Amino acid sequence: MIQRPRRLRGNAILRKMVRETRVDKSSLIYPVFVREGENIREEIPTMPGQYRYSMDQLPYKLESLKKAGVESVIFFGIPDKKDENGSGAYAEDGIVQRALRESRKQFGEELYLITDVCMCEYTSHGHCGVLCGHDVDNDPTLMLLAKTALSHAQAGADMVAPSDMMDGRVLAIRNELDMHGFTKVPIMSYAVKYASGFYGPFRDAAGSAPSFGDRKSYQMDFHNRKEGIKEALTDVEEGADILMVKPALAYQDIIREVADRVELPVAAYSVSGEYAMVKAGAKLGYVEEERMIAEMAIGAYRAGASVYLTYFAEEIARLMDRGVIG
Ligand code: PBG
Repeated sequence: MIQRPRRLRGNAILRKMVRETRVDKSSLIYPVFVREGENIREEIPTMPGQYRYSMDQLPYKLESLKKAGVESVIFFGIPDKKDENGSGAYAEDGIVQRALRESRKQFGEELYLITDVCMCEYTSHGHCGVLCGHDVDNDPTLMLLAKTALSHAQAGADMVAPSDMMDGRVLAIRNELDMHGFTKVPIMSYAVKYASGFYGPFRDAAGSAPSFGDRKSYQMDFHNRKEGIKEALTDVEEGADILMVKPALAYQDIIREVADRVELPVAAYSVSGEYAMVKAGAKLGYVEEERMIAEMAIGAYRAGASVYLTYFAEEIARLMDRGVIG
């Protein structure tokens, strides 16, 4: 008798029946850039189809996401003013804090609001913390990150997501939140975050490229796997609720290993460069956009992610409606 795996591939209904990886719209998180100003919806040059929204334009985007079935967003703020200490990150009337209040007012509990907790969009030098000479000073930065997370929770964030990669920040944030009664606000830590060329368009979008040096002293070296697992385990101990691996595409081995090793949900972040690459390739007619979006998404879930952050969230929701992704 010959084995006939093809038997399961001949019929479209059957093919769907036996799919090993299934995704749900509720696992998608859409990253949104919020900026100061009025009546602004400006396209990000290196991310065609993605925009920076001023507060008054934001609800239109949120509404459209909601209609498509995407209920979770993560906010990134683009402030007008930056300073040495990134004070806009934790200002009560900061851009993210206002976006949270406004979104909550308009959408109540219908959307799940997450915030990126980092300093790099708010510091004049573009690094993810306060500096001591040319180095980011880890421990003083922890206080500011905790303060930022707290200000987000106070403004109505459902969840906070520290992306800075300072040592000890999950614990610092957890303590600060708990001390102020926000014991129920979960932390999704960017646990395994590599120093990556794939962040290029994001830095363009957020104006957060470091003015000198790079982020290699705090983000991870992409040659390393075990170090990533160690980062993940440390964040579990410090009290993280969801662990994120970032980028997604070139790091599926890391997603798989973290998912196998920890008893927490794993999130994969398909970052700006992954988005830009697909868009550029499709525009040139070199690749088929929809098929690539689908494979990248399913690849992340198949690798073990149960949450997926992507600029393609709305497109993916539509691909699900059409049965291209199941
Ligand atoms: C902030 C932050 C970055 C991203 C998410 N949070 C940029 C960076 O670390 O340089 C990148 C997201 C993307 O590329 O889509 N630290």
